[in-house]
Parts: sequence; structure tokens; C-alpha cells
Amino acid sequence: MKAITGIGLFVIVGFLTAYLIGFQPNLKEQLPYDEEQRGLKDQITIKFSHVVAENTPKGLAASYFSKLVTEMSNDRIEIQVYPNGMLYTENTEVAALRRGDIQMMAPSFSTMSAINKSWLAMDLPFAFDNQDEVEQALNGELGKKLFQTLDPYGLKGVAFWFNGFKQLTSSTNPLLTLSDFKNVKFRIQPSPVIERQFKMLGASTAVLPFNEVYHNLAVGNVSGQENTISNIVSKKLYQVQHYMTLSNHGYLGYAVVFNRNYWNNLPSDVQEILTEALRRTTEWTNQQAVKHEEKLNRLQKDDSLQINILSDEVRRQWKEQSKVLYEEFMPKIGKELMQYIPGP
Ligand code: LMR
Repeated sequence: MKAITGIGLFVIVGFLTAYLIGFQPNLKEQLPYDEEQRGLKDQITIKFSHVVAENTPKGLAASYFSKLVTEMSNDRIEIQVYPNGMLYTENTEVAALRRGDIQMMAPSFSTMSAINKSWLAMDLPFAFDNQDEVEQALNGELGKKLFQTLDPYGLKGVAFWFNGFKQLTSSTNPLLTLSDFKNVKFRIQPSPVIERQFKMLGASTAVLPFNEVYHNLAVGNVSGQENTISNIVSKKLYQVQHYMTLSNHGYLGYAVVFNRNYWNNLPSDVQEILTEALRRTTEWTNQQAVKHEEKLNRLQKDDSLQINILSDEVRRQWKEQSKVLYEEFMPKIGKELMQYIPGP
């Protein structure tokens, strides 16, 4: 009898509870409305990974862009910048962007050549004589064609940022004639053109990520490298090298790239803000890049570094020798694209 009463009571309480819950007004709808919560839903965070120091042309451009976007969007869009290869190195950043783990990056042209061989054109020695030639080519047909190569890889090129012309450093001997390269093992970026450039001079090479260059030069795993003055100064590479040759033999620049899907799915007003911020940053950074070359003054004060200038005659010989590379890489780069490279 007791058991039957218990079950009855249980059923009645169950019905009552269900009834009460069922007819409760929706609690969620009754919560006070909170502006900040809506703001959070609209918040857009873009992860931007790169491999250089914050005080280099690319590092500064990334920070400038990030600040500008915050201001222009009233804090709605946040560009999170990860410098110094702290998230991804040259070897892993492209895959991370394609997966969507980061949304934007600004790899060097050499790194881009791992995606599509056309980008090797930018690594050819003596491709450009001066900054104006570089700008004309990249702001014109060459730039357009290079960005088109990214379509099949789910990437979208949005700007070119400049760093400058590359110089040579070594610890074994000054690099004044073409035969001086023989004893040097150069750290290089991942680019078959750069590898051939040094092999043709009888030097050996090792591909290493940028943030491992200092250490490898210091312990003698490699004895030379090529880079822009701003990268040599910001990474203090001059401290582990004895000689520098101002050669301007190659160019270092960056493609600013988004994950295409991510970009396409951004609201159009966000795309507009990013486009305008990129336009302003590009203009700003490309003016700054030239100023970074003034960092040479700092190097000139360093007694332990001997600075030489490549003579006109050796430059002429090196240019002559480089022509073979143009022939060799033409099939990979494509004849059409090669016509936009002034060359030696
Ligand atoms: C390098 O030598 O790897 C650097 O030039 C890379 C960079 O992004 O500047």
C-alpha cells in the first residue's frame, strides 16, 4: 500500500514539475540586454604570423597595420601579430595559412616559391638595378601575375611590402672577387635559385630558418649569409661575421597574403577597412624601408666588421655569370613572367 502511495506521489510531483517548467517564461529572453555581449559576437580576430624581429621593415609594418586596423574599426577587428617565427617558421607558415590556423602572413619571395615556382623570378641575381625598377614591376603586370599564381592554393595576395637589396657577410674572408666565395658556406633561404647562385660561385649552402641564422653563424655551422642591412642589424648578425660586402646583388621583399576562404567570408565592410589599412600601411612601410638602409651607419661604427663595396668590374663579371641562371630557370618560372624582369 505504502509503495503504491509512493509511486502515485512520484508521478504527481513529476507532472507538476513538467507543467511548471513547460509554462515558465523563457528565462533567456528575460536576461537584461548587454551591448558588450553583442560586441563580442561581432569581434574579428586575425592572426598574422611572421619570422622577423619587430624592429625590421616587415615587423614594423605588421605593428603599424595592426594599430591602424584597431583604430579604423573602433576595436572591432584585432590583428594579433606573432613575430620572430614564434608560431611558425618559413617551413611551416604557408601550410598553417592554407589550413586556416592563421589568417594572414607576409613571407619573403623565396618562401613563396615553395608554393609556386614563378616566385623564383624575384630571387634571380641582379634582377633589378634599383628600388624604382622593383616597384614598377611589382605594382604592374609582374605583381598581378604573381598573385594570380596563388588562386589554386586557396591564397589571396593583397600587397607587396619591400625590405631592400641584399648584401653579403662572411667570417672566413672578404668577398671581393668571384673566387673569394669558394671557402664560404652560406646560410640561404629555401630557394633553388639562391642555392644555384652560390653553387655557381663554388660556395656551399645550407637552408636555415631566419631565427636560427645567428646561432649557426656563431658556432660556425655556416660561415656566411646574404641579407638586407635592416635584417643584419636587427638580428645582430654582424656580431658573428667579420666581413661585409655591399653588393646589392638580389632583392628581398614580401607578399602579404590572406587565406582566400577566410577573406571571402569576411563582411564587406570589414574587407573595406582591411583594404584601406593595407593600402596605407604599404605606402608607409615602403617609404620606411629605404630609411632602414641608413642603419648601415651603425655597422660602420662597429670596428670588428670590415665593410667593402663590390667593385664595378666584379659586379660585371658576376652579372655575366648569372645569365646562365636565367636560362636555367626560365622553364620553371615561365617565359611570360620573365619578360617583366629587367635582369643583368
Ligand atoms: C631571411 O633571410 O630568411 C629573411 O630575409 C626573411 C625575412 O622574412 O625577412
